[in-house]
Amino acid sequence: MRLTDTGDLWWKTAVVYCLDLETFMDFNDDGVGDFEGLAHRVDYLAELGVTCLWLMPFYPTPGRDDGYDIIDFYGVDPRLGHHGDLVEVLRTAKDRGMRVIADLVVNHTSDQHPWFKQARSSRTNPYRDFYVWRDEIPKDAPTNVFPDQEDGVWQYDEKTEQYYLHNFYRHQPDLNLANPKVRDEIAKVMGFWMELGLSGFRVDAVPFLDQSDPNVDVHELLRSLRKYLTRRTGDAVLLGEVNLPYAEQYAYFGGEAADELTMQFDFVGMQRLYLSLARQDARPLAEALRERPVLAQENQWANFVRNHDELTLDKLSDAERQEVFEAFAPDEGMRVFDRGIRRRLPPMLAGDPRHVRMVYSLLFSLPGTPVIFYGEEIGMGENLDQAGRLAVRTPMQWNSGANGGFSRARARRLVAPVTPDGFGPAHVNAADQRTDPDSLLAFFEKLIRRYRASAEIGWGELTLIDSGVDAVLVHAVQGAEGRMIAVHNFSSDPQEVEFALPDGMGPSSELVELLRDGDVVADDRGRVALALDAFDHRWLRVHDGDDKRLS
Ligand code: NOJ
Repeated sequence: MRLTDTGDLWWKTAVVYCLDLETFMDFNDDGVGDFEGLAHRVDYLAELGVTCLWLMPFYPTPGRDDGYDIIDFYGVDPRLGHHGDLVEVLRTAKDRGMRVIADLVVNHTSDQHPWFKQARSSRTNPYRDFYVWRDEIPKDAPTNVFPDQEDGVWQYDEKTEQYYLHNFYRHQPDLNLANPKVRDEIAKVMGFWMELGLSGFRVDAVPFLDQSDPNVDVHELLRSLRKYLTRRTGDAVLLGEVNLPYAEQYAYFGGEAADELTMQFDFVGMQRLYLSLARQDARPLAEALRERPVLAQENQWANFVRNHDELTLDKLSDAERQEVFEAFAPDEGMRVFDRGIRRRLPPMLAGDPRHVRMVYSLLFSLPGTPVIFYGEEIGMGENLDQAGRLAVRTPMQWNSGANGGFSRARARRLVAPVTPDGFGPAHVNAADQRTDPDSLLAFFEKLIRRYRASAEIGWGELTLIDSGVDAVLVHAVQGAEGRMIAVHNFSSDPQEVEFALPDGMGPSSELVELLRDGDVVADDRGRVALALDAFDHRWLRVHDGDDKRLS
C-alpha cells in the first residue's frame, strides 16, 4: 500500500455521510434537529466508520427549498444553533478523524437574500447585475428543473419590468456568474468556511451555472475556484453535482488536467444500477462501468444509491425508465417530476435483507468513494404522505421510543413526521441494531472496515470479468495497494458461475473471503468456480503469498 499517497488524497478512500441537520438529532427539544444534537452523534458516526460528513445547507433560509434557498451565505440558521455550535461539531469530528464538507449553493440565492432585495428595487441599483435580467423571454429558454411547479425559467418582476432567470423555483433567482463581483463573493464565502475548518464543498447544480450565457465559462470559473481552494488549503475538495453524460462529466473534472471538480457523483452508474436491479440482470450496470471514464489520479467518482432528491432516472430511455418505475414505484404517487422516484431503497426491494445487502456490498466495492445518505445504514424507509422529495427526508430513527428518539418535542411540533408503519422506529432504529450482530448496521460497519482496509477500491484499476451469467457481476480492482474480486448476484435465484482471473491475478491464487469465513482456490488455469445464493455478494482478496495484510 502506498501509505504516503493515500494519506494525501484523503477523498480517494473516504466514506462520506450526508445529513440534514434539521432531521438528524434534536438536542433542545424544539422539534428541529440542531448542531448540538449532531455533536452528540459524532461518536455514532465514527463507530460506523464515516470519515467525512457532508452537511446539507445549514444557512439562514426561508425554507422553501429545504435550505437550498439561502439568505446569508455566512450565517447559520438560528433554528439549528449558531457558529459556536458548528465549531464544536467541527472540533469533535476532527478529534474522531472525520472531515466535514458542506453544500455550496451559488447558482442562486433566495429571493429574500439582501442582494436580490436590492437588485429588484431598481434597474440602477448596484446589485442589479448580481442577477440575470432580460426585457423579453429568450426564444430558446430551457424547461424548468421542477416542471410540476414552474412553467418556465424567466419570472417577470412587476416593479422593474424585466424578467429574471431562475432555473429552479421562482423564489430562487440565478446569480449572474458573468459578474466578477459575484465571483469574488463566492470565493470569499468559500474562504470563510475553510478558515472555520471545512474540508471542501458539495457544489450544487453545477451544469446550471452556465446560465446559457456565452459570457459565462463554467469551466473557467471552476478552474479559478479550484485554484483558490488549493492556494488556501491544499487538500480541500469540490464534490460536484453534475447529472450529465460521462463525456461531459469528464470535462467538469478538467479532463486530463484534473483542475476543476475533484469528485463528481456517478449519476449514470446509479441509474443503470436500478435498471439492473429491476431486470435482475447485471449488464446495464456493467455497460455503464465500461463507459465510465478513467480519471486522473487526484479525481474520484462518488458512488451512491440514494440521496435527498428524487431518484432521478432521466438518463435512461423512456422504456427503461418505465421498467424501473413498474418495478420500484408502481403507484403514480411514488414518482415525481415524471423522471424520478421518491422512495428509499429497502421499501423498493420489499424489505428483502439479502437484496438490500447485495446493493450496499456493491456500493462499497465499486471503484470510487461511497456516499451514504443518513438512515441508509439502518435501512430507513420513506413517508409517502410527505410532499414530493420530502418523502425521504424524515427524522433519523435513533430508537424505538417516541419520535424515534429524534426529539422529545410533541409529535406535531416535529420538523417532519417520523416514518410510519413497517419502516417506522418500532422496526427500524439505530439503538436496536447496535446490539444486534446480524443487523444492517452491523453489516455496514463490516463493509466499511473492509472497504477502508482495501485501498485498491479507491485507487485501483477496474476490470470487468465475464461471469458467463447475465445476472452476475464480477469485477476486479487492482493496484499497488492490493487486489480483490467482487461477485454480485442480481438474481433472486441461486447461480453457478465460473470465471477466469484477470491478468495480474493468477493463475493459482488463493482467494480469501472478506465478508465471511473461508477461502476459494483458483485452479491451475486461474479459473474460479462459485455457487451463489440468491442475491449473493462476495469479496475475495487475491493473495500471492507476499501480501502483508491480515486478510
Ligand atoms: C440540487 C439539490 O440537490 C436540490 O435539493 C435543490 O432543490 C436544487 N439543487 C436547487 O438548489
